Formats: sequence, structure tokens, C-alpha cells
Amino acid sequence: MASQKTLTISQLKLFDYTLAQLVQRTRILESKEYVQHGMTSVFDHCLNVAIISLKLVCLFKLAVDEKSLITGALLHDYFLYDWHNKESSPSWHGFKHPAIALSNAKRDFPLNTIETDIIMNHMFPLTFFHFPRTKEGWLISIADKFCSLAEIFRVQKYRARQWRINNK
Ligand SMILES: [Fe+2]
Ligand SMILES: [Fe+2]
Repeated sequence: MASQKTLTISQLKLFDYTLAQLVQRTRILESKEYVQHGMTSVFDHCLNVAIISLKLVCLFKLAVDEKSLITGALLHDYFLYDWHNKESSPSWHGFKHPAIALSNAKRDFPLNTIETDIIMNHMFPLTFFHFPRTKEGWLISIADKFCSLAEIFRVQKYRARQWRINNK
């Protein structure tokens, strides 16, 4: 069977369900207020990472826990502050934010070991001693770099608003 580049209906439904669950139970919508890269909010960045990681799963026909992959992707930057504002954000944001995001996420939502791995280790290789231990963790770490570059260079094709999801 050939690799498939588009997401399946069941993946899109799982995505919508997971996002709706997080919108209801966490403060994820707050991250719309914070800029991640260029014109992209932290919220949109997390949607981009989730969708691109699912596309990688389809492309390479990988067997992963898709629910955990989506949950971890959507919460991987759940640090809830403006990292461009030096007064209201911690120093060394790049190194510290995975632990902050994990602590916030654990406070608001029950996480399994895959989701914990995704959030805590997504900044590898910057955080050299925190490398992903799961397939899902590696996928998000790769998708995160890809999306960050696409956002910094404003590649329109990878804008969150184009994804067919409940991004209201
Ligand atoms: Fe991050
Ligand atoms: Fe990120």
C-alpha cells in the first residue's frame, strides 16, 4: 500500500475530540494571546505541530499512539506566558519551558508517560540530557523544528488556519 499524505477521517475526528477536550479542561485557549514565532501564536504553533506529526505518521506508515501524540503536541508549549517579554518570562526560556509546560499540563490534565515524554523532551538537542524516549516524543521533536522554521520564514502552506479542525 502506498504512503498516504492526507489525514484520515478518523484522525481528524480524533484531533477534533482531543482539542475539544483540552479546550474544556485546560487553559489552552490562553495561548492564542502569546506569539510563538513571527505572526504565529503559541496556540496555532501547537496545532501546526500536531497536524504535521500526524502527516509524518501517514507518510511513513508509523504505528504510534495517535491520541497521546495529539495531546502531547497540543500541550508541548503550554507554558502560558509571553516569552518575548523579558520581565514576565523566566530567563533561559528555551531551556526551561518544557518543564514549565509539563508542570502546567499536569496540573490541568491527566498525562500518560508518552505525553509526559513529548512535553519534557521536545527541545532536544538544545536540552541535551533530555532526549525523547518514545517514538511519539521523537516525532514531535522533529515536527516542532519543522514548524518553527516554517513559521519563522512564514511559509503559508503550513499555517494553522488552513487545517480542517475546530479552530474557532
Ligand atoms: Fe517548545
Ligand atoms: Fe514548539
